[in-house]
Amino acid sequence: MTAPQFEEGTTLDRFLMETHRATPGATGQFVNLMQSIALSGKMISARVNRAGLAGMLGGTGDVNIQGEFVQKLDRYANETFIRALEHRGHTCMVVSEEEGGVVRVPSQWHSGRYVVTVDPLDGSSNIDVNATIGTIFGVFRRVTPEGEPATDADGLRPGKELIAAGYIVYGSGTVMVLATEYGVNGFTLDPSVGEFFLSHRDIRTPERAKIYSCNEAYSEAWQPGAREFVRQCKQPERKLTARYIGSLVADFHRNLLKGGVFLYPATADNPEGKLRLLYEGFPLAFIAEMAGGAATNGRERILDVVPSELHGRTPLVIGSKLDVAEATAMMAEDPQL
Ligand code: AHG
Ligand code: MN
Ligand code: MN
Repeated sequence: MTAPQFEEGTTLDRFLMETHRATPGATGQFVNLMQSIALSGKMISARVNRAGLAGMLGGTGDVNIQGEFVQKLDRYANETFIRALEHRGHTCMVVSEEEGGVVRVPSQWHSGRYVVTVDPLDGSSNIDVNATIGTIFGVFRRVTPEGEPATDADGLRPGKELIAAGYIVYGSGTVMVLATEYGVNGFTLDPSVGEFFLSHRDIRTPERAKIYSCNEAYSEAWQPGAREFVRQCKQPERKLTARYIGSLVADFHRNLLKGGVFLYPATADNPEGKLRLLYEGFPLAFIAEMAGGAATNGRERILDVVPSELHGRTPLVIGSKLDVAEATAMMAEDPQL
């Protein structure tokens, strides 16, 4: 069957149903999973939009497994996702930034085909100042038999085994970008109808960056290759501009559409960088590659990395292909920090 074609304005539901029909062996669990994720996105979007009124600003007073302060919206987003994923029979396990261990689907519900990794709320430091934040997710098909409890082996897999990934940005509008074997497509939420509509069809990212994005405050501590790459980005003939929000998902989304390179390198104090592999690096690397871009940790393609722990971190250079290749060449000579 040929891949279905979609017009802008197509609903997410129709997109999911038609791609489902074109996919041999599909059971409908993937459609249900995406609908659950979209529902979570709508709920979080509604809460984000009225956070200042709903008592949702500020911290919970707790510290998560990463040692970071948990914001009220981090907790709400995490609970929303887990509730939406655990009982509809499509998911067997969730790996979330906000949970110390994996969350397995309780035995009263069917343990489905998919493992979901999720950063429920990315860019938490931007919540209280109304800057763009988002949700990032990746989807693996489980390796253990459906219907049985999932094991760690279902989650600790190289990123190249992802079958889908996406994110939802809560910005001036709410947009869900979904990468599947049918390409990378963006859907904008019309809050008056409560539905996502196709707004960014078959996203391809420019091969050359117009933007570079990094937290230059740390540049003196960075690995030398990253410092040299950014020095070259500033050469007038490159005609690049700098943009950095501090929400990975928002920086990535802008760069994906406009052409850009985002980097969060290793430092001597943090030799694995800051960003997490399973629910930040992997999903965005999958989307970037699917859109014609690239992602590396400076030594290796991100999607080839085999994670050894649930909350492992990774240096990340991601975005336009030619610029990521140049950064990789400069970082390849770096000593291991
Ligand atoms: P999270 O809010 O999920 O913990 O992630 C924050 C991350 C990421 O979104 C962003 O790119 C990065 O932290 C910003 O870090 P710096 O403040 O060190 O630049
Ligand atoms: Mn994050
Ligand atoms: Mn987060």
